[in-house]
Amino acid sequence: MKLWSKGFEPDEMIEQFTVGRDRELDLRLARFDVEGSMAHIRMLQSIGLLSAGELDTLLEALTDILAVIDRGEFVIEPGVEDVHSQVEFMLTSRLGDTGKKIHSGRSRNDQVLVDLKLFMRSELKLTAESVRHLFDRLQELSELHKDKLMPGYTHLQVAMPSSFGLWFGAYAESLVDDMQMLVAAYNVANQNPLGSAAGYGSSFPLDREMTTRLLGFETMHYNVVAAQMSRGKTERAAAMAIASIASTLGHLAMDVCMWMCQNFGFISFPDELTTGSSIMPHKKNPDVFEIMRGKCNRLQAIPNEIALLTANLPLGYNRDLQLLKDIIFPATTELRSCLEMADFMLQHIRVRADILDDPRYDYLFTVEDVNRLTLSGTPFREAYRTIGHQVQEGTYRPTREIHHTHAGSIGNLCNAEIALKMQRVLDRLA
Ligand code: ARG
Repeated sequence: MKLWSKGFEPDEMIEQFTVGRDRELDLRLARFDVEGSMAHIRMLQSIGLLSAGELDTLLEALTDILAVIDRGEFVIEPGVEDVHSQVEFMLTSRLGDTGKKIHSGRSRNDQVLVDLKLFMRSELKLTAESVRHLFDRLQELSELHKDKLMPGYTHLQVAMPSSFGLWFGAYAESLVDDMQMLVAAYNVANQNPLGSAAGYGSSFPLDREMTTRLLGFETMHYNVVAAQMSRGKTERAAAMAIASIASTLGHLAMDVCMWMCQNFGFISFPDELTTGSSIMPHKKNPDVFEIMRGKCNRLQAIPNEIALLTANLPLGYNRDLQLLKDIIFPATTELRSCLEMADFMLQHIRVRADILDDPRYDYLFTVEDVNRLTLSGTPFREAYRTIGHQVQEGTYRPTREIHHTHAGSIGNLCNAEIALKMQRVLDRLA
């Protein structure tokens, strides 16, 4: 039975095609759908469309539905189109006419929008928590291994000395930038669309300030058409934040794969965290980080997917928008599982302390030696040539001393400053 039923039922094939996986995805919206309804009916009562008694009855029934959701027992019954229909169906079968009053001044279009805004807020906060854990882990490793040197590369050629402190710390600070994107996505989500109804408002005197307050939104989409336009935009902003975090994590995964390679041999993991080969008995492969790299690369495609799905849609609601759920819902879960896996793996990472003892890394120190000459009075270009000639003639011998003490360098990682920066960004999610 459809909410829009008026004497005919759609063909079974139409039903299958238009609903597809949507009912399953909708289950993740159930809690937010009920919360949105609670705010909506409080507001309806305040403008005289529900009596105080009806409000109480409805709130009680909705609270019971929340409990069903919490127990993991909420289902969208066969033949029921979506989560919105299911909640209304549960209310009307329990309360009759009182249940039938809940949809005054509302459409599924603003209902799904408000569900998605609340869902996105919650998902982004959970994502921020996972990022925070990984950030803390990276900072901890950075401090722990700050004195262990490793080669720094440009063009994948040996360049200048780096350290595990710099490496781990770099990914921590890079996550701060990603969190700026996440906060921006959160702000886009944190606006009330309720009251925009089908996308053109309602002739009821809806109190949109009230639902904004009740649902804890920072503001509302004032223009009802803009509210509807935020379907797609909300998901796109979140997708961009997800893609940004994924690009950082995918990059880290690549470093790990490369540095586990015997040709580098900078890091390793306990055997049980590696995978084997069916033919080569010696193999201890970094499959975890390869899967992570692949997943993170795929996640970077979702802003594009959303752009293509929503490109030049006619103004107002279009059913295409339903498919956004299929893109963004799995993405948030996937990203979090990658973040959690990275945190788990890094907890067990082993790093080599003696990498630079190998003469193949001697040239890492040429800049140090140029700088030393420069500090003792030789003009920089002349010092550069002196060391350059030694390299050409094969007479260069590194002094192996490093004096990088400026902010953010090997000798002065500034992890406390970076942690503060992260905290300031996260405070904006409050
Ligand atoms: N499942 C739909 C969606 O996600 C529900 C919104 C309204 N549906 C409709 N046919 N107007 O977009």
